[in-house]
This record gives sequence, C-alpha cells and structure tokens, in this order.
Amino acid sequence: MASPLLVIGSVNYDLIFRHPRLPRQGETITGAELFESCGGKGANQAVAAVRCRGALDEAAPSVLFGGAVGNDAHAAAQRRVFEQDELDTRYLLVLDDCHTGLSAVWVEAGTGDNRIMNSPGANSRLTADALAATPIEEAGLLLIQNETPADGVRSAVERAHGAGVPVIWNPAPIDEASDPGLDPRHIDWVTPNEVECAVLLGRTGERIDAGSSADAAAELLRLGYRGAILTLGPAGVLVAKPGSPAELIPAPQVDAVDTTGAGDAFNGAFAAAMLATSGSHEAAAFGVRYASDSVTRHGTQTSFARW
Ligand code: RIB
Repeated sequence: MASPLLVIGSVNYDLIFRHPRLPRQGETITGAELFESCGGKGANQAVAAVRCRGALDEAAPSVLFGGAVGNDAHAAAQRRVFEQDELDTRYLLVLDDCHTGLSAVWVEAGTGDNRIMNSPGANSRLTADALAATPIEEAGLLLIQNETPADGVRSAVERAHGAGVPVIWNPAPIDEASDPGLDPRHIDWVTPNEVECAVLLGRTGERIDAGSSADAAAELLRLGYRGAILTLGPAGVLVAKPGSPAELIPAPQVDAVDTTGAGDAFNGAFAAAMLATSGSHEAAAFGVRYASDSVTRHGTQTSFARW
C-alpha cells in the first residue's frame, strides 16, 4: 500500500462572527451572524486533503493526522468530522487537563476577509516528545504548519528529512518570535501567504503582493528552500523552483463570502495531489481550484467540498 500523507498540526474550534464591518478599538458591535466550524490549520489541511481525493486518480493517498485536543465537546465535534471523512487519527492525542484550541474569527461581510484570535489549549502540548510515537519516517509526505510548538515542528521536519520524506511547510501563523528556525534546505515546499513571506524574508510588517511575488520567491530559493509557493489570495499562487522561471497560477474568479481557511484548503489539496499526480504545477493548480471553491461557502471545514 502507498505511504500515507501525514498532516501534523493544530485543532481549533472556530466561532466565526460575520458583519459588514469589523469593530474599532473600544467599540462593541452587535448583530453579527454566527457560524461554528471545526477548524485549526492542521485539522483543516487534513480534512481538505481527504475531501478532495475524489477528483484525484486512484493513487490518491490515505491521510494520517497527528495533533492534540482536550477531552471536551469541541474535540468530540472534530472527532466526528474526522470519522465521517475516514481520516486516520490513531496519533491524535487526547489530553484531560486542557481545552481544545479555540479561535474567534471576524469576517467582514463585503470582502470575506478575516482576522483571527486563537487560544491554543492542547495545541501547545504538541512538542517533540509528544510526537515521538508518530510514524513520521513512514509517511509518503509530511505537511506541517506553524500553529503548534516550534520544537515539535523542528523535530518533525528533521525526522522527515532524515528519512527522505518530502516536507511541505506552511509557515502559518508566523512572527519573529514563533519562527522555528528550520533549515530551509530541508523543506521541499514552503507555502507562505503575502504576510508570512515577508516575515520569512526578514521584512516583518510588509505585505508581498502579486507584483513583488516573483522577486520574493527568488529570495526564498536563495535562502535554500527547495521550492516555494506564494499564496496570493484571489490572484492565485506563484510556484517557484530553482532553475525554472516562477509561474503564476491564477485563481478562478468567484464570489467570496468567507476566505477563512482558504490557505488550508490549498495546502491540503496541493499535498494530496503531490502524492497522486506527477507534477508540482498540476498539483498547485488543483489546490487553487479547491481553495477557490471553498471561499464561496461559510466557515472553515464547513466550506470544504467533498469532491
Ligand atoms: O487558517 C484558518 C484557521 O486558523 C482557523 O480554522 C483558525 O482556527 C485558525 O487556526
């Protein structure tokens, strides 16, 4: 049997407030629409990876998830989703003494843009030690983000690299304090958005746009990353590999109602497609289509279609 896609990362329960405008400092806004969804960048990416498989060929991988949750109702909701999606959760840690991660998500109704505040709970316990039993060395591909402790991320990447397992690192979220200091040469694909890319390049606070993305991607390759995909929202993604010109894959034009989790939809579908199809360009185009579809629905995992 083919080796699975291993997704390691966070689990959160998302409370999503949608309103025509976001609150200013000191202001209370009432009357927001409320959506609830299982979320967390790691869980979202794993769920996207399994739900998109119907559109891939028979080589579509099985998906194994490594993460940590509390022993509470939010974890039970996520476990029900994982079961329905037939995700392998043998390595999901259930901790009695902390809560499942929780995110408050504000969505601006007109644009679908979002802001997120997160309390990590059990996610903060996904350390290198906690991952010791997770069979990283047996994976076909490791997909990991940055919403769990840095030492766990570092150890997972080093173990994967040491065993010859390709690594996709989605550096979300990231600031100077939470940068795990990975060796870029051990990352096959780094997949930042416009803000995360600037942090990786030591230009925190800047925003890379479509116009500056090719230069930024070239800088990432010069740092040693083996491949870079910049996610550029409605503009699509820019794929860069050493030795060939960067390519922009435009996103289909859609009416976005909620962009929360679109990056996760891309990463999950891209990773699944990398194990099932022959080329990174094709896999990235598949990820763009899956993510663009997700922004036409509300929520995070609730917006990911079963293809
Ligand atoms: O990327 C979207 C996710 O970020 C949400 O599900 C939220 O929980 C935060 O982790």
